[in-house]
Amino acid sequence: MLPPLFIVAALLALGARAFYLPGVAPHDYAESELVPLLVNAVSSTETALPFDYYYNQFHFCKPKGDPVAQPESLGSILFGDRLYDSSFELYMNKNTSCNTLCSQSVPKEDAAFINSRIREKYTVHWVVDGLPVAMSRLNQSTNELIYNMGFNLGFISKDGSRTYLNNHYEIQVHYHLDEGKKSPRKFRVVGVTVYPHSVLKIDQKNNCVIQPGTPPLTLSETGDNLITFTYNVYWIRSGISWTTRWDTYLKVTDPKIHWFSLTNSIVIVLFLSGMVGVIMLRALNRDITRYNQLDIEDDIHEDFGWKLVHGDVFRSPIHGQFLAVAVGGGAQLFLMTAVTLVFAVLGFLSPSSRGSLSTVILVLYVCFGSVSGYHSARLYKMFGGQNWKKNVLLSAFLLPGVVFLVFLTLNFFLIAAKSSSAVPFGTIFALLSMWCLVSVPLCFIGAYFGFKKPRIEHPVRTNQIPRQIPEQPLYLRTLPSVLMGGVLPFGAIFIELYFIMNSIWYHKVYYVFGFLALVFVILVVTCAEVAILLCYFHLCAENYHWWWRSFFTSGSSALYVFLYCTYYYATRLNISNSTSTVLYFGWSAVVSALFFILTGSIGFYACFMFVRKVYSLIKID
Ligand SMILES: *[C@@H]1O[C@H](CO)[C@@H](O)[C@H](O)[C@H]1NC(C)=O
Repeated sequence: MLPPLFIVAALLALGARAFYLPGVAPHDYAESELVPLLVNAVSSTETALPFDYYYNQFHFCKPKGDPVAQPESLGSILFGDRLYDSSFELYMNKNTSCNTLCSQSVPKEDAAFINSRIREKYTVHWVVDGLPVAMSRLNQSTNELIYNMGFNLGFISKDGSRTYLNNHYEIQVHYHLDEGKKSPRKFRVVGVTVYPHSVLKIDQKNNCVIQPGTPPLTLSETGDNLITFTYNVYWIRSGISWTTRWDTYLKVTDPKIHWFSLTNSIVIVLFLSGMVGVIMLRALNRDITRYNQLDIEDDIHEDFGWKLVHGDVFRSPIHGQFLAVAVGGGAQLFLMTAVTLVFAVLGFLSPSSRGSLSTVILVLYVCFGSVSGYHSARLYKMFGGQNWKKNVLLSAFLLPGVVFLVFLTLNFFLIAAKSSSAVPFGTIFALLSMWCLVSVPLCFIGAYFGFKKPRIEHPVRTNQIPRQIPEQPLYLRTLPSVLMGGVLPFGAIFIELYFIMNSIWYHKVYYVFGFLALVFVILVVTCAEVAILLCYFHLCAENYHWWWRSFFTSGSSALYVFLYCTYYYATRLNISNSTSTVLYFGWSAVVSALFFILTGSIGFYACFMFVRKVYSLIKID
């Protein structure tokens, strides 16, 4: 199992680097052509409450007429992008200086608003030619330039008493020029950085170049202020080609750490596979031969171990309907994740097309509604359920409905906080129609085919009277064994989880989908193995209640994911206001719940196949 895994690992890791951008075509600019600069939401990791760039209290300069909202994908809107045009004028390969955007008078209340946003470390986000405008800094250890997306709204004086607003921008656009063959020269944007400054008065004589010691701009909260926004543009020819222009943004984390994470996960898988292998090959084999011999040799029946429960092991669980619905939802999530990762690894989800990842996730989830209906119908029929209408409705509405309700509730918090990331009504309507017009009918169709199929037959018959379950050792009691089960799947993913959290909260581009895909494969294997292992122990202890338990055993890793989110909140984030805290934990809970359904279903199916297999191997009279 290992060598192929490593080969796949290497291929994926290389693949993710070599071609991650076929999805988006480059834009060629002619010399002096206008390169639009778009503005995005102003956000902060300390509050998680972004504002529109043109939110009136900021007093940023608006373009003539009203700012025009730019078309965006569904995922991009859901994840808080709010793109508008701007009045910045960037002409390809034309250095310009002393450009004045506008002068604004800022009343004292708004000055107070801006000053508190500066203290909360709000960051401004611009986009040029699909690239986020970044601040570059030198990584001391590797001596490489790294880009941090966005730039500070302002900064705080050393003693912390004053705040300064950045009102002058030195914009550097790096371009690639394809010289030669054909006559009109083609320019491509390959990197954009900005150096923001706070200046009381710009020095026109010196061509607006900021001299050291220029006094910065403070906004007075006792009287009106007049501020002038200015910018200089420099075009710098670069050797970076268009296809590799994202590399600088992606260099944020050391790939060594991802390899470390992968090795960590592989060790866990090996350890578990070893255990499962030993059980499968030795214990099970021995059991099966012994059981079958006993039957033939004489009539003294000294059954023991898991064979004893053959008459109960396929007894339908209580609340089988909910189990069926949950596993159906899990199958849907599983396919969604797997297909998204395949798209991502093949490079179809370019970071240039904003929100493509989340859009694909949504669309796939909706399209796989039929999978959920089908799986839950088949399982429900197997459990002998009669109320198939209720089952279909639960599959179509329960899980998406709960997530949607939480989403709406959290959205109210965002609206109350006047945050721009509150999802507009049109988008909510679009989501609702996707759900009701696509996902629900597909779920019905899936359920129809699921119910039409013959009932899944069990390899052994179930007795009339349930067996008594003997006293269980402590480690096999429900709670300890379930809590134990979740540790390993969580252990296999937690390092990658850290990077995903960083990319969400610190605006880092996450683009190591090769690693992520492998970690996902490892997660699936670990969940399956843990569930099978504990299932075997329970059956040996003559405890046949395995249906729900197998779901909870691997699903409990979600509990650790939630605890990890709490730990991340406490150690890495500086969120202080209560709305942001509610939002953070609300979303963490939703993600953990979905993770529970996903990992639980993996454990359930693994265990299901295992139990069916072993009981079909023994002879029962
Ligand atoms: C624009 O400014 C940059 C940086 O100062 C310089 O390297 C470049 O040659 C200038 N370009 C033009 C066309 O003057």
